Amino acid sequence: MRIANLVLSTLFAALLLAVPAARAADPIVIKYSHVVADNTPKGQAALKFKELAEARLPGKVKVEVFPNSQLFDDDKVLEAMLLGDVHLAAPALSKFEKYTPQLQLFDLPFLFADMDAVDRFQQSAAGQKLLKSMEKKGLTGLGYIHNGMKQISAHNPLRVPADASGKKFRVMQSDVLLAQFAALDATAVKKPFSEVFTLLQTKAIDGQENTYSNMYSQKFFEVQPYITESNHGLLDYMVVASTEFWTGLPADVRTTLEAALNEANAYGNKIAAELNEGDKQKIIASGRSQVLTLTPEERAQWVEVMKPVWKKFENEIGKDLIEAAAASNTRS
Ligand code: SIN
Repeated sequence: MRIANLVLSTLFAALLLAVPAARAADPIVIKYSHVVADNTPKGQAALKFKELAEARLPGKVKVEVFPNSQLFDDDKVLEAMLLGDVHLAAPALSKFEKYTPQLQLFDLPFLFADMDAVDRFQQSAAGQKLLKSMEKKGLTGLGYIHNGMKQISAHNPLRVPADASGKKFRVMQSDVLLAQFAALDATAVKKPFSEVFTLLQTKAIDGQENTYSNMYSQKFFEVQPYITESNHGLLDYMVVASTEFWTGLPADVRTTLEAALNEANAYGNKIAAELNEGDKQKIIASGRSQVLTLTPEERAQWVEVMKPVWKKFENEIGKDLIEAAAASNTRS
């Protein structure tokens, strides 16, 4: 009897010890860091990814989205990713120059006529190949998210390139963007997105270039009385993960996450134009900033001054790639 009791209690203790092991494994935590507000195309795409991924992999995956540079500024996030401190990010295409010269393509002024052309190029074989351009550096591109075309805001009205002469602008981390402002006889400084509002407010800089959704959500329009609707350049994003993290995921989880990400990015792309137009109207309605529409003659002057920048970067980016992107302006 005593022996039977001993066996029973040993079995019971073993069962108790086994319980935690029998519980479902802890979910894979995916930290998704970005620098913009939730109510922007990228912010919405990130939240949509969380919704889809957690619904399709219940208990297996937990997505934590950190907007507004809460976790990392864009100039730090890729280093953090390679150290495993963050798992997904979607920096602007202008912010990869340390990792590949090819993505500078997207910064060339007046390269794309509109967002349909951007879409055609990003979905083409050449555009998809760029997602793999940083594999040697340990980063895998997982897709593109649109924001839209950039406009130039300033303390003074900029109608023609000469109005920008001698002024100081903030740009993202891109030598092409520095060259673009140098072509205007202006200076530019590379600064993180999180610092732009204060730089403008304190008048440490005269202006900056961005989309309406960023200018509205970060309140740049409150400290910049003029916005020139130049549509001179693109602000789009690449969603990236460290290759080590992404390929280390269980295959079934990775496939489900890829599908969720594609859907979430497509959702962000679908609402991007509408969000930017809505934010433009809110800026106009605020009366804090005046949107300047250029005449065709005025716009032609910006094109003439800025477009020679292409030539300077032709070797670094690749002539073929530039031609392929420019060709996307005509529908095949
Ligand atoms: C972003 O849209 O992610 C930031 C853009 C910027 O740095 O101006």
